[in-house]
Amino acid sequence: MIILQAKNNAQFNLSKRLATTAAAVRWGGVVADVGCDHGKLPAFLCVTERVQKAYAIDISAPSLEKARRLFDELEIKNAETILCDGLPEQCRDATDIVIAGIGADVIIDIIERAPWLKSSLIRLVLVPSSQHARLRRYLAQNGFVTEDETAISESGQCYAVMTVSFDGVSRTLQNGEDEMGLIRPVNLDSYAYVRHTLNKLTVALAGQRSASSPDTDMIKYLEECIAYIERTKK
Ligand SMILES: C[S@@+](CC[C@H](N)C(=O)[O-])C[C@H]1O[C@@H](n2cnc3c(N)ncnc32)[C@H](O)[C@@H]1O
Repeated sequence: MIILQAKNNAQFNLSKRLATTAAAVRWGGVVADVGCDHGKLPAFLCVTERVQKAYAIDISAPSLEKARRLFDELEIKNAETILCDGLPEQCRDATDIVIAGIGADVIIDIIERAPWLKSSLIRLVLVPSSQHARLRRYLAQNGFVTEDETAISESGQCYAVMTVSFDGVSRTLQNGEDEMGLIRPVNLDSYAYVRHTLNKLTVALAGQRSASSPDTDMIKYLEECIAYIERTKK
């Protein structure tokens, strides 16, 4: 956890997951944080002067109120709060879009409803709360290239911070590549991510094998994923 002090001495903290997410946002740009909730991420980016301006967006009025209160408390003038489902047109000057702590299906829906994100100039920083493999397959098939991924293990949960841009090339991921993305066991957090993913797949495979009517396609998929991860983790 990071504790930060604003110019007026007010303090706030940021989790390792959000600090890693903030580090993926480029210096000097305009950030839009979709699903900002408490507003800590845009607050951190403004206080550290990493961005010129931040849009803090949320579908929930009470969440946005929390963000507004935090910006007031920290005397942040360059963060704008927007009540919206997804990414509004008024954020088209954003260079970096963060969508964190939201499930893959909703992230995909938000991207689909903002076709202007299909630009090589825009960076997406995505931290799905579920279904990482589904999001990776969607991005690859729809011309988005993942440039970097950082695994974070925090409070018993494993997260992937994905740095993504658009190059228009549709790709098909191998079974297992969708589960791991670019993550390799190089530190404690990424080791935990690999172990968590392998455990999840192994349990699912055992469940399928002992089912009264096993799904043979699913068994093949899970076996191939496990083999891929065992191969690439060495
Ligand atoms: C679990 S919080 C995550 C907060 C923060 N981004 C983080 O990672 O800590 C999810 C937030 O996303 C908001 N949200 C969910 N769906 C949304 C949508 N379609 N458009 C905008 N905000 C959304 C929720 O209201 C909630 O405040």
